[in-house]
Amino acid sequence: MSLIIETRDLVKRYGKFTAVNELSLEVPAGSIYGFVGPNGAGKTTTMRMLTTLTRPTAGQAWVAGHSVTEEPRAVRRAIGYMPDEFGVYDDMRVWEYLDFFAACYDIPENERKRLIDDLLELVDLTHRREDMVDKLSRGMKQRLSLARTLAHDPLVLILDEPASGLDPRARVEIRELLVELAKMGKTIFFSSHILADVAEICTHIGIVEAGEMVIQGSMDDMRAQLTPHREIIVTVRDQETAERVKSLVALMADVLDVLILEPKAGRSRVQINFAGDDDGVAAINQKLSAEGILVMGFTEETKDLESMFMRVTKGIVT
Ligand SMILES: Nc1ncnc2c1ncn2[C@@H]1O[C@H](COP(=O)(O)OP(=O)(O)OP(=O)(O)O)[C@@H](O)[C@H]1O
Ligand SMILES: [Mg+2]
Repeated sequence: MSLIIETRDLVKRYGKFTAVNELSLEVPAGSIYGFVGPNGAGKTTTMRMLTTLTRPTAGQAWVAGHSVTEEPRAVRRAIGYMPDEFGVYDDMRVWEYLDFFAACYDIPENERKRLIDDLLELVDLTHRREDMVDKLSRGMKQRLSLARTLAHDPLVLILDEPASGLDPRARVEIRELLVELAKMGKTIFFSSHILADVAEICTHIGIVEAGEMVIQGSMDDMRAQLTPHREIIVTVRDQETAERVKSLVALMADVLDVLILEPKAGRSRVQINFAGDDDGVAAINQKLSAEGILVMGFTEETKDLESMFMRVTKGIVT
């Protein structure tokens, strides 16, 4: 696994206040990495260090193999950065806005029209080409801002809260766009405190709180790490069958606990707390059917990211 963004014990202090505290990030090339944390956690500060806008107090950071402190120009060439604020650009048309940024990246004039056409098409703003930027909706401004970060065809996109302040539909559009960009081979590192946005599309996630990384890894690893046990609910016809399920399952490998729940809609239910893997879940299922137990429902409760996040940021998982 090659890392396209890596930090080692990164620190940013403002006077006596530590905004980022020995943060070590690992963003694999080609990933969609969700950088999640509550307000004031240090997400923007970390991104500003990665984009060379602010110097780390201590520690190191590399983007696309370049040190942010030693080779800031190379880092800037490798990244497209979308800050959390759009900024004010009065009196500019949509195409002029992109033309301006393309020019800043030294893209020759004769290539810019084609580039602008492509970018507008990608973010679905072709029909707004001649509109004034400040007349666009927030969702459109966000998409335009994303188009701007792509002007020099960067390897890595660093996006600060790309979905913030958007309505649900516009959020979905941004998410789809990010997935499309990932398919084009870009690595996407974005911050959010809206977990649903992250859970839907991320391959990797890092949860940060009070300047410190609480936990990071692939989405699959995170789920495994944060779900110490799985809950399986088996629905059967009556209490007698439930008792049988309980005695059959209780002694199986990795079964922590078996509880008979209150009947629901006339059906009896058994809850199995289980520490095994997928094969183990299948083995339970098989055992029940081999014993001739008529199973009417077999569901596994997967802990959603929201509850995971709440647990992590409350320090329950250490
Ligand atoms: N220039 C600065 N001077 C002093 N303190 C700062 C400065 N910039 C940020 N901070 C403080 O550092 C902490 C982290 O801020 P940061 O903006 O990185 O958080 P964030 O995770 O991006 O939060 P949000 O979700 O609200 O965007 C905050 O307590 C903030 O007040
Ligand atoms: Mg921020």
